[in-house]
Amino acid sequence: GRNTNMIIAIDGPAAAGKGTLSRQIAEAYGFHHLDTGLTYRATAKALIDAGLALDDEAVAEKVAREVELAGLDRDILSAHDIGEAASKIAVMPSVRRALVEAQQAFSRREPGTVLDGRDIGTVVCPNAPVKLYVTASPEVRARRRYDEIVAKGEMADYDHVFADVKKRDERDMGRADSPLRPASDAHLLDTSEMSIEAAFRAAKAIIDAALK
Ligand code: DC
Repeated sequence: GRNTNMIIAIDGPAAAGKGTLSRQIAEAYGFHHLDTGLTYRATAKALIDAGLALDDEAVAEKVAREVELAGLDRDILSAHDIGEAASKIAVMPSVRRALVEAQQAFSRREPGTVLDGRDIGTVVCPNAPVKLYVTASPEVRARRRYDEIVAKGEMADYDHVFADVKKRDERDMGRADSPLRPASDAHLLDTSEMSIEAAFRAAKAIIDAALK
């Protein structure tokens, strides 16, 4: 049935800034926040840590069903190879079903929730009263990711980061089950030319207008 609590669905490609934005929005409205990418990353990390294959769907589904939403930590799950592995297991329908069920249970928390990912507006919470599709050009997203890596004191090569962003887009947009795409009723927010503050103001204006 229809949800009675408030749900804000935020989707978009990798490195579009939706993580920061979603956290700020959740804080501004006093809602619970779930970064659904972390559920795919936690599943991938659990498989890697246990030395299990990344291409066995039945095994990956079993691990996905055991993922705890409480205590997911982006710092622990941010490694590049975990992101790559997450993107690979995210093509598996039974893994998606397991994680989507957990995400939907989370989405019903009171007084409201913000979920961000790739398929929130299209699959996880199709009835969400507000949907944002946050994007930025591949060049800008690669630049932001590059700056992040350098800021951590690590080495990075822009062309390599750019190629990675494109590869991740292809996998996320090209998969058969729940590909990344804007829901037909999503508000598009292109942050290519926006600071974090400007993106937050624009998002808040869209949400306030939609909730009126
Ligand atoms: O947003 P992220 O980089 O943490 O996501 C990691 C991978 O998880 C991403 O490449 C695709 C997958 N993912 C997904 O398929 N559906 C979601 N709702 C969130 C993430």
